[in-house]
Amino acid sequence: MEESSKILGPMYEKICADGAAAVDMLDLGPTPDILDIGTGSGNFAIFLAQQGYQVLTGEPSTDESRYARQQWEPSAAKMGVRNRIRFEHFDAGALPFEDNRFDGVFLFGVLHHVPEDARSNVLAEAIRVSGKDGAVILFEPLPETLEKIWVNDPQHPLAADPSVYIQDLNVHESRLKGSLMDIFIYRAA
Ligand SMILES: C[S@@+](CC[C@H](N)C(=O)[O-])C[C@H]1O[C@@H](n2cnc3c(N)ncnc32)[C@H](O)[C@@H]1O
Repeated sequence: MEESSKILGPMYEKICADGAAAVDMLDLGPTPDILDIGTGSGNFAIFLAQQGYQVLTGEPSTDESRYARQQWEPSAAKMGVRNRIRFEHFDAGALPFEDNRFDGVFLFGVLHHVPEDARSNVLAEAIRVSGKDGAVILFEPLPETLEKIWVNDPQHPLAADPSVYIQDLNVHESRLKGSLMDIFIYRAA
């Protein structure tokens, strides 16, 4: 873990702990189809790839924010998982994937970066592609995590509560508290 912190920074250990808490709640099997929405620095895609999963990750080609277009590939290569991660440009509000395609759809630190009026659509799309036996897993920053983020990025948005945007969808919700993030797991009811 010391080596991975050198490559991915001091938060990576906690990202992995939160990721593991969520994965432990799922029954993904050995070769699940995994979608990671919002590549960013690639931390979560790398965590998923380290579990042995093939991961499809992406973000919109039009995103000019400081959190998009990051150099995630060198980190994935150094971590020895570049060959398990495939990148595509896509918008979570109109996913270019068929219904029921994925066993797990992960959004780590993403929903609060989506404009409020687009969040319901993003959640509906994630549920659509996650399928009957799949799950959508969202990670949103805890208040103490936001305090740390605001030191370097005072404009960073507040955390989003997915349940506010998922009201009309027929899903079951489970919640966990991680060390960095609140974790929300949704499955079709
Ligand atoms: C803070 S980063 C996420 C961190 C990243 N998951 C990681 O593990 O390093 C926010 C990401 O959300 C993505 N994003 C924002 N709006 C999006 C949308 N509509 N569709 C897909 N990704 C989006 C951004 O492009 C960026 O990659």
